[in-house]
Amino acid sequence: METKIFSEGQIDDAVKLLAAGELVAFPTETVYGLGAIATNEKSVKGVYAAKGRPSDNPLIVTVSDAEMMARYAKEVPERAKKLIKHFWPGPLTLLLFVKPDSLPSAVTGGLDTVAFRCPDDKLTHDLIAKLGYPIVGPSANTSTKPSPTTAQHVYHDLKGKIAGIIDGGETRVGLESTIIDLSVKTPIVLRPGEITPEELSAVLGEKVLINTGKVSDQDVPKAPGMKYRHYAPAAPVMVVDDAKDFAQINFDKTTGVMALDAELAKISAPEENKFSLGQDLTDADHNLFSGLRYFDDKKDIKQIFVQGFSGSEETLAYMNRLNKAAAGHHYQVN
Ligand code: TXA
Ligand code: MG
Repeated sequence: METKIFSEGQIDDAVKLLAAGELVAFPTETVYGLGAIATNEKSVKGVYAAKGRPSDNPLIVTVSDAEMMARYAKEVPERAKKLIKHFWPGPLTLLLFVKPDSLPSAVTGGLDTVAFRCPDDKLTHDLIAKLGYPIVGPSANTSTKPSPTTAQHVYHDLKGKIAGIIDGGETRVGLESTIIDLSVKTPIVLRPGEITPEELSAVLGEKVLINTGKVSDQDVPKAPGMKYRHYAPAAPVMVVDDAKDFAQINFDKTTGVMALDAELAKISAPEENKFSLGQDLTDADHNLFSGLRYFDDKKDIKQIFVQGFSGSEETLAYMNRLNKAAAGHHYQVN
């Protein structure tokens, strides 16, 4: 199958493909998503196949506005209304009870809840509004690989497997949306993102819990995606929690390093094996997945060292993704 690249003026062509049951990747402010019309079970199954995704890992339902969401939610609680008013369109996904029989079970993985997201992206808003139906939207990467922050990343992973990609340029945030579960007594953040628990708590006027991410294989996981290996390039990744420790490491042509400019400047390593995360944490969020992909394509790299951050809630999203990419491995000085 030829994978077409669409630009701003070609949204109608992409709408036609989705309406015909084809798969089209779309831009959002977080990462690129892999779209299929959410009401067509066969199309939804095609998304799992294209990504190589385990079928018990449910998909986000991407809507153009809260009215579209209400067609598929059992009810829209007051908490959801408050969050929507404040954060939508934006990088916040809401977990609500699904309206029975409104969506194929391939979307929800057979759960009684469904994740709703309304991205802040004009092209994707127009795409869904013109289609008139929501689209499923997992990140548009091959399962286990880092999420795509450019149309080129999507093409790299899914060319020949999907009908098209809408090119909206580089995504703004670079890490996936915050997911908050509103189907439970106390709201809980299942996946950290740009919108922090503190901000959610301030808008809700109540306590918000944070999932610790410790999901054992025996448990039925709350966000099923969290139990899988994720975001991982071919070479093993090591988190360097204290940037001073970079000085202890012997870098050579088999090692890659990802750090902020200020740290990178102090490191002596082959230039092509250094990847800049930028100037600050916001830049690092934006660049993390690109960097992991950069080294994934360099076959002589056998180990990647990546700067870690700590100290505030703003670091949660970055460290959550990095820890998964590193499978929990942190550099320790001997
Ligand atoms: O920013 C984002 O959210 C991106 C863009 C493309 O919108 N999408 C995204 O989708 O990250 P995905 O499928 O890669 O991650 C969604 C996560 C998965 O870990 C999945 O297990 C979880 O949400 N999820 C989806 N439906 C759920 C449900 N009903 N209950 C619990 N977790 C759910
Ligand atoms: Mg994903």
